[in-house]
Amino acid sequence: FHVTWDAEAAEKEGYQHFMIKEINEQPKGVSETLMRRLDKEDHIVLDGIELTKEDLTHINKIYIVACGTAYHAGLVGRYLIEKFAKIPVEVDISSEFRYRDPFVDENTLFIAISQSGETLDTLAALREAKRKGARILSVVNVVGSSVARESHDVFYTWAGPEIAVASTKAYTTQLIAMYLIALHMAKTTDVICDEYYQKVIGELKILPEKIERILGDIDRIQHLADAQFNNESVFFMGRGVDVNVAHEGSLKLKEISYINSFAIAAGELKHGTIALIEDGTLVVALATQDRLYEKMLSNIQEVRARGAYVVAVAKEGNKEIEKTADVVLYIPDTMDELTPVLSAVPLQLFAYFIAVARGCDVDKPKNLAKSVTVE
Ligand code: G6P
Repeated sequence: FHVTWDAEAAEKEGYQHFMIKEINEQPKGVSETLMRRLDKEDHIVLDGIELTKEDLTHINKIYIVACGTAYHAGLVGRYLIEKFAKIPVEVDISSEFRYRDPFVDENTLFIAISQSGETLDTLAALREAKRKGARILSVVNVVGSSVARESHDVFYTWAGPEIAVASTKAYTTQLIAMYLIALHMAKTTDVICDEYYQKVIGELKILPEKIERILGDIDRIQHLADAQFNNESVFFMGRGVDVNVAHEGSLKLKEISYINSFAIAAGELKHGTIALIEDGTLVVALATQDRLYEKMLSNIQEVRARGAYVVAVAKEGNKEIEKTADVVLYIPDTMDELTPVLSAVPLQLFAYFIAVARGCDVDKPKNLAKSVTVE
């Protein structure tokens, strides 16, 4: 009698790849990361992190430093901290930070974001900032990792183990960490009014079920991927916080499908990228920001007029965009500030189904590693 025991298949729990399993784990990861930090009155309790009003009045600059997907979470983090807490933020790629003589002193807060907590460049940047006297806060998924150990304060994301090289649930939980850190800073320094704070928290709490809704209706994305997988180049564009998500959507696609993909701020279109548009060029346009919607719509019209095939990501209820885009992937309606957590999901699925259709090794893309521990 012989039993074959495939540990990896068991770990995938019936999913074809770790990546799709992890995409589906996002409602849980987001909910855990959020709800563990909210008390009964919806006050934010950041583990043992002591960022008092006095600490925060001394902080006059924040650096967010990270690599890859974590860097993209940092870009959204900048938007959130500046918007909610009104403190100036710079975001740096870890490998650049320590070679550019950054302006760091005791009044600097350095935020490292890292899923693994072992990325060498992020660790080196952290050490450099620490040496110069900065306070170090890290957002890390792996408990007890090097980045966590060397930080003054740690915010753990509750994504659970992430196996696929392409990061998905770590990203959305890093976003939640940034919402909580930014809102906590804003509340501690009294720069956010109660009504707005409560509104954002209330909306954050219903994000898991909204992600669930996106995941429950993936046919449209799968069909789109099956029709578009042969493209050899794609570009993503957006305005405002949508640009940050465009960068992440583009990275997801390139790392697992090997399609030449990049992202731009839609306002930069006329400064170069529009020259690339020809009949059938695939453009993914994020149009979730109400405030910038009209401008985004004209950018979509500009590329369509030159023959592009446009896939738009928009908020549910926006029927008008169907007249301009070729395909619309809808996300449930939410505040403009919160769309990144939702719009990331259809882009992850789009990348995933394209990579599957192209027969790529989704969980272990060629030349890439889950954690880069060399320079
Ligand atoms: C590698 C991984 C990416 C990840 C990046 C940063 O490139 O393939 O998925 O975003 O490293 O990793 P970290 O563990 O620091 O978040």
